[in-house]
Amino acid sequence: MAIHDILKMGDARLLRIAEPVTAFDTPELHTLIADMRETMVAVNGAGLAAPQIGVNLQVVIFGSTRINPRYPDRPLVPETVLINPIITPLNDEKAQDWEGCLSVPGLRGMVPRWTHIHYQGQDEKGNRIERTVDGFHARVVQHECDHLIGKLYPMRVVDFTQFGYTEVLFPELGAG
Ligand code: NI
Repeated sequence: MAIHDILKMGDARLLRIAEPVTAFDTPELHTLIADMRETMVAVNGAGLAAPQIGVNLQVVIFGSTRINPRYPDRPLVPETVLINPIITPLNDEKAQDWEGCLSVPGLRGMVPRWTHIHYQGQDEKGNRIERTVDGFHARVVQHECDHLIGKLYPMRVVDFTQFGYTEVLFPELGAG
C-alpha cells in the first residue's frame, strides 16, 4: 500500500471524465482501493475519488467506522467502495450544507445537493450495490461522484458569500 499525493484544484486531471472499470477483483483494482483508503485515512477524508490521485477510473470510496475530525458533527456513513456509480434523485428537493474537499484544502463552501437519492454501482469484487439514502450520506455520494465527471464542489456553489477559509468559518476545526 502507499499514500499518494492528492491533486489540487487547478490540475487539469481533476477535470476529466473518468473511465468505467471493466475488470473486477483484480490485483490492480485491489491495490488502487487499498491505496485510496490509506490516503484518505492519512488526511482524515470523508471520501476520495480515484481521479484525485491521478487515476482516471470511476472508483470512489467514502465512509468510516469513526467520527471524522474534519466533520465532527456529521453522522457516520458506512465504509463503501463504489465503482461505476449511477445516481438517481428521488425528487426535486435540494438542501444546502457546508462541504470541503481534499483537492481544495483549507476552504469550505455551502453547496446545494439533492436530499434523497438512489445510487447503484459495484464493489471491488463486482457485486452490485444499490442503496436509497438521504442527508449527509446522499451529500457525500454526490460530492465524490462529481469527481468522476470533472466537477469540484466550488463549481456547485451558488452563494459565494458562503465560501471561505475553514480556519475563519470554523475556527474550532483548524485549517483543514
Ligand atoms: Ni472532493
